[in-house]
Amino acid sequence: FKEKKGKSFLTLDGWQPDELEALLLLAKQLKSERQQGMMGQPLKGKSLAMIFEKPSTRTRISFEVGMKELGGYTLHLGTNELQLGRGETLEDTARILSRYVDAILIRTCEHARIQRLADAATIPVINGLSDLAHPCQAVADLLTILETKGKLKGVKLSFIGDGNNVLHSLMHASALAGIHLSIATPAGYEPDADIWKKAEQIMGQTGGTLTFSHDPHVAAEGADVVYTDVWASMGQEQEKEKRQQSFLSYQVNARLMAHAAPDAVFMHCLPAYRGLEVTGEVLEGAQSVVFDQAENRLHAQKALLMALLG
Ligand code: CP
Ligand code: NVA
Repeated sequence: FKEKKGKSFLTLDGWQPDELEALLLLAKQLKSERQQGMMGQPLKGKSLAMIFEKPSTRTRISFEVGMKELGGYTLHLGTNELQLGRGETLEDTARILSRYVDAILIRTCEHARIQRLADAATIPVINGLSDLAHPCQAVADLLTILETKGKLKGVKLSFIGDGNNVLHSLMHASALAGIHLSIATPAGYEPDADIWKKAEQIMGQTGGTLTFSHDPHVAAEGADVVYTDVWASMGQEQEKEKRQQSFLSYQVNARLMAHAAPDAVFMHCLPAYRGLEVTGEVLEGAQSVVFDQAENRLHAQKALLMALLG
């Protein structure tokens, strides 16, 4: 990971297919070593400052535990505990933190805020979710697909729901891995056009494909993996009712899963809202791998931390 050392991780931009593959292999190795109770301290003494401007369960805890397991430690910083909440600039915050810690993780709304932080910092900045991207999630997602399907290239992944941050990173990751991604969103909730273009470009080299339909049944046809996310993301609370109307026929339920391959798995980045984007039956059913997927955040991020800081 010589190329990645000291770099920020805001999106999967700049990652090559073989680099992502190596990251997943490292994550698998770290997972198996953890299961055998064999953990070294490759990041002994390293520190990660984590700024959360939105709530988090998985991202926060998996980074905290992951960093600790690698020998390092974290500082959890809510915006309102920082002078950032009183108007100190992101740039000054980045320069100050760069003097104290080895890396910064930030979860915020506008992606531009993360970019500003990264531009001013002299240490790696990690995107812990922005309105544009959730790249840490996508790495864990690929690890989960690799484990459950035994491969990535040629796997048919179907994403049903909102064209949001989670889908954007999944598009990019799928492109790098040569996955066949079929997407269904309601009209007006399609993913970002630039990310679409970029994914298609990468797929020209990796053999992946990108297809789109407004019909969830068409998108789910023959899928090896069916994936969904919340209909209203954090910060979209005021659109909740309108979105529930628009997304009504996009629920992942047994009827939709019947269109997928018989051995298809169900994935969701969580938190999930049973009875909205997914039924309790599917989420709790035999095809669901959502808790393995959530666990994989830990292993994938430990690999990422090693690549950026090791
Ligand atoms: N999937 C995910 O990022 O979960 P949290 O919001 O709990 O971190
Ligand atoms: N799309 C969701 C993902 C949460 C992990 C959100 O942004 O709220």
